[in-house]
Amino acid sequence: MATHGTPIDPLAESRHHVESAGDTPRLKLGRYEVVRELGKGAMGIVYLAKDPLIGRLVALKTIRSAAHADDDETREFQQRFIREAQAAGILNHPAIVTVHDIGQDDATNTNFIAMEYVEGQNLKEVLAQGRALTFEQIADIVAQVADALDFAHSKGIVHRDVKPANIILIEGHRAKITDFGIAKIASSVANLTSTGQFLGTPNYMAPEQIKGAPVDGRTDIFALGICLYECLTRRKPFGGDSLTSISYKIVHEAFPPLAEINPQIPDGYEEVIANCLAKDPAKRYQRARDMAAALRSVIRGEKPVRPPDPMLAEETMVTRLDRDRISTPTLEVPFPEAIEVDTGGNPVAPKEMGGSTRPAAAKAAAAAAAAQAMPRTPRQPIGQQFRRTLTNVRALPLWRRRIAPPIFAAIVAVLVAGLIFAVAGIRSKSPVMPKEDKAAYQLSLKATQLREEAQVLVREGKVGDAYLKYEELSKLAPHSPFVNLQKQKLGAILQSNANSQQQQLLAQQKFDEGKVLFDQKKYVESIPLFQEAFTLNPNLIVAGDYLKNAQVEDQKIQAAKVKQRATTPSKRDVATATTGTTTTHAQTATETAAANDTPAQFTTTFTHNFTDGSIIVKFGADTVLHAPLWEEVGRFLTKRKRAKPVNVTKEVVPKNADVQVWVTVASLKINEYHVIPATRFTPGSSHHLNVIYNAGTKTFAYEFN
Ligand SMILES: Nc1ncnc2c1ncn2[C@@H]1O[C@H](COP(=O)(O)OP(=O)(O)OP(=O)(O)O)[C@@H](O)[C@H]1O
Ligand SMILES: [Mg+2]
Repeated sequence: MATHGTPIDPLAESRHHVESAGDTPRLKLGRYEVVRELGKGAMGIVYLAKDPLIGRLVALKTIRSAAHADDDETREFQQRFIREAQAAGILNHPAIVTVHDIGQDDATNTNFIAMEYVEGQNLKEVLAQGRALTFEQIADIVAQVADALDFAHSKGIVHRDVKPANIILIEGHRAKITDFGIAKIASSVANLTSTGQFLGTPNYMAPEQIKGAPVDGRTDIFALGICLYECLTRRKPFGGDSLTSISYKIVHEAFPPLAEINPQIPDGYEEVIANCLAKDPAKRYQRARDMAAALRSVIRGEKPVRPPDPMLAEETMVTRLDRDRISTPTLEVPFPEAIEVDTGGNPVAPKEMGGSTRPAAAKAAAAAAAAQAMPRTPRQPIGQQFRRTLTNVRALPLWRRRIAPPIFAAIVAVLVAGLIFAVAGIRSKSPVMPKEDKAAYQLSLKATQLREEAQVLVREGKVGDAYLKYEELSKLAPHSPFVNLQKQKLGAILQSNANSQQQQLLAQQKFDEGKVLFDQKKYVESIPLFQEAFTLNPNLIVAGDYLKNAQVEDQKIQAAKVKQRATTPSKRDVATATTGTTTTHAQTATETAAANDTPAQFTTTFTHNFTDGSIIVKFGADTVLHAPLWEEVGRFLTKRKRAKPVNVTKEVVPKNADVQVWVTVASLKINEYHVIPATRFTPGSSHHLNVIYNAGTKTFAYEFN
């Protein structure tokens, strides 16, 4: 871990300056050329930079140095900075961001750490964006981090600042943890206590960290437990609006149960979190790898594997008071069996930092760590242990006393009887199911039964009854997307049925009114009522028939009137003839009945995309067309409306009359009315009206010949 040249010598060439590359000035920190800013943290800015020596991109984390009072203090800080960075630099693990180098910029009194640039998004950003992660993905990400922490702990390095912002996700699923030991460096920068207390939020701190007690790997396990909780619930377990209230909760309060926030979080996570968030470190997972293993069993749908007995784990868990922040590096909890792995997960020999020249300080630090590792008592072979136990049992005073034969026989009899009772009891009982499992089983049986019944009802077309079943089911499974979708679909059908029932009633009412008028020979008055009835319910065929009859009767009356006028011209006709005026208004169109019996053909076409509404075309008083623009397809759940193109030909009595067109589409608020004035239909002639709708301009056009 050395910059090009002498790394931390204040007189060294590592200088923060701007160089001109063509027209673009480039910011430089040491030998590194800054490309752009990656983000800001509590300690300083993180830059994307280029190492011109090997053309590699690095993330350059700058750490503002405090204005130290004297030279001794500055030297102390720099020694500490090197030591911590060296400690972090010995970590070579696929899920740990590698530290490449450190340096100092004298001009700004800025120290920096050059580390592996990870192209991805940190977990804090992912959570802030509300990106969906499945429970399995969360468990997998946290398990990867737990493995990385376990590796670091086995090297005696505690992270101290595990939080979502320090977990970077590559391609959304591979995790890398960054900022190892940075918290400790920062604590010296900020001139805080030596116990690793740190600026910023205490949200992820363990109780011992808050109390200023010694920290160890279990402190990181607590913080990772909080990250897991936050990922699962999108809430912090110990929230608050002040430092004091958060700290109080961390030290004294239990975390809110997961099920209270989201009952869908699968079983097992609660137990893992409880094993991470125990206030007493001895009651937590003792190794981060235990946490990883527990999470992986939860992913497999099994009960999380139990953490090893803390009594045994104490043997391997050594905490060291961190009193001397100057003379000791962050090498605190040397776990045994540290195996360094390469990116492919293969074991490798310990790597020297900064290439080939690992500084003596790092070697000393590693040696100190090794020296501090608790020596383990050599294990005895099993046979030997068994023999020793037997000898100890034999030595118990009870065995040395003589027992009277009747008492001995009574003891044996009692034991045998007890055994017989126990066996009989076990055999007579069916396997006992835990209370909760029984209840859950009953619920799932009920849910299955309801679902089957509902499906039968749907098949039988009993939509209302099926809806009620699904409603009952949704109380048992309120978050089931299938049940909610079925409820929604059936609800829509019921609603549309209710609407159409109302429409049918209204249609019948209009028809009845029209019929009364028809029977009184008031044909003209009855026509609009029949028309309305037919529009409201196109299935009311009788309304269509009456409409036709009323029109025919009306035409007959009109024809008779015209005939009468032709034979005995009225005063009004005479007046019209003398003035030569012709009236061609839609409502008062002049109709000339043709004496000839040969009808004319009238074809209407209209291609459109409407799924509701209707079209009416009238030639004089004749209704040439009255049709809905839609039709219904499918049954029950698949029932839907689709557009129905119009192509209708009708025979009409040849005459001279206006053509009127109405198009009504309620969903688009279209109420179109158009008149083609006084058109002469000669006997046997064919006419074609093509209605065109322009959806872009929402206008109608008409072609007529
Ligand atoms: N090695 C890296 N590669 C890519 N981006 C990084 C790397 N290290 C840090 N970053 C990004 O730089 C930004 C600032 O990181 P930094 O560690 O300074 O702040 P933090 O972790 O959010 O807060 P704190 O200073 O409290 O640790 C973050 O967006 C982080 O994702
Ligand atoms: Mg960070």
